[in-house]
Amino acid sequence: MRLTHLSLTNFRNFGRLDLPVGAGVTLVHGANAQGKTNLLEAIYYLATTRSPYTNQDDQLINWDAGYEGAQVVVGRLVAHVDTADGTRHLELRLIRELKGHKTTFRREALVDRRKVRLLDLLGNLRVVLFVPTDLDLVTGSPASRRRYLDITLCQRNRHYCRTLSQYNKILEQRNALLRQMAEQGTRNNQDVLDLYTQRLVEAAGQIFAIRARLIDTLARDVQRIHYEQLTAGNESLRLLYRPRLAGSDVDETESADWLYNHVDNPTIIAERMQTALADTLSYDIRRGATSIGPHRDDWVFQVNGRSLRHYGSRGQQRSAVLALKLGEIAGIKADTGASPILLLDDVMAELDGTRRQHLITALQQMPQAMITSAETTIFPPDFLAQTEQLAVDGGRVHSVI
Ligand SMILES: Nc1ncnc2c1ncn2[C@@H]1O[C@H](COP(=O)(O)OP(=O)(O)OP(=O)(O)O)[C@@H](O)[C@H]1O
Ligand SMILES: [Mg+2]
Repeated sequence: MRLTHLSLTNFRNFGRLDLPVGAGVTLVHGANAQGKTNLLEAIYYLATTRSPYTNQDDQLINWDAGYEGAQVVVGRLVAHVDTADGTRHLELRLIRELKGHKTTFRREALVDRRKVRLLDLLGNLRVVLFVPTDLDLVTGSPASRRRYLDITLCQRNRHYCRTLSQYNKILEQRNALLRQMAEQGTRNNQDVLDLYTQRLVEAAGQIFAIRARLIDTLARDVQRIHYEQLTAGNESLRLLYRPRLAGSDVDETESADWLYNHVDNPTIIAERMQTALADTLSYDIRRGATSIGPHRDDWVFQVNGRSLRHYGSRGQQRSAVLALKLGEIAGIKADTGASPILLLDDVMAELDGTRRQHLITALQQMPQAMITSAETTIFPPDFLAQTEQLAVDGGRVHSVI
């Protein structure tokens, strides 16, 4: 799988961009605030339908697009992707429309010029993105780790993505009902609640199982890469799932062990969650929220048996994230037989010499990669000699020969 052409209309600071994309490594450089990050974001967005930086997708439309009072403003991203079965044409449209005094926003996806559900865009273009703020995966909130996990999984498993979106909808309905029950002080709606709970745990059983499997395979790749390549056998990195499958009285390590033993049976997982939800019902009604389920999951790193978040040095945390990204590439390759596109935004300047060398080696082995930097002097000359270079300047891109 290879991206051969990218065109953007009204996406971030690109009014109009038409860009042939070569194989191998492309180095995108330019001064600050010219559009380097936006370019990688566009590729990532076409692959995942999610921005790594915002949940408000209307922010992605160029703010200068359309005239004052325009009825419709459209941002457009188009990729041509070479696959084993020929060239695919992928398109995502961001549509902001003024209806009366109300502004609406919607998205449309097209594969080979035919409208499809957004979900069906996934898996046509696979990417692995590495940005300096990925360090948050170690030090940040569980929500950011769940977001990472979901985007990674959705690229690899459409069924997961569909189930997750069903789960989130039911969860919202269930929480609204819990709040209503708290306000009214009755349990008159018990039968509706039971129905929501039933549907919630069915979806949750599958999500828990798929997450457990992914984390297990990813953990093996990450551990191997970290041990063999990044720390020369000195440190052992573990990646551990912390599922919220039971009440807070049950240790999450115990929940994870139990889950791994039942990963082939989502029904049993669902039943266990259902029992746990029954135990916390009074508490959940008081809070107006569901306290158990994959929406409260987490995953953590340990180095030599200790929490990387609490005890790791900055350098150890960086190595772990690098191992995670390299592990992600290995996983996608093993799953699909094809390498993803590696997107590196500004990460070189953050790494020390040894880690930089590891990343450059990994880059050179990738069939296709794009890397941004404000400086080209930090790269070794032999690397630069093999790299196609693009200069970005105020939302315009030109090739440097
Ligand atoms: N919706 C939008 N419409 C127009 N411009 C936007 C939009 N969103 C962001 N921008 C602008 O795009 C410009 C380029 O941003 P980008 O993050 O790509 O810069 P960069 O080249 O990566 O810079 P740096 O080297 O500082 O990371 C910024 O000035 C930003 O304000
Ligand atoms: Mg940037």
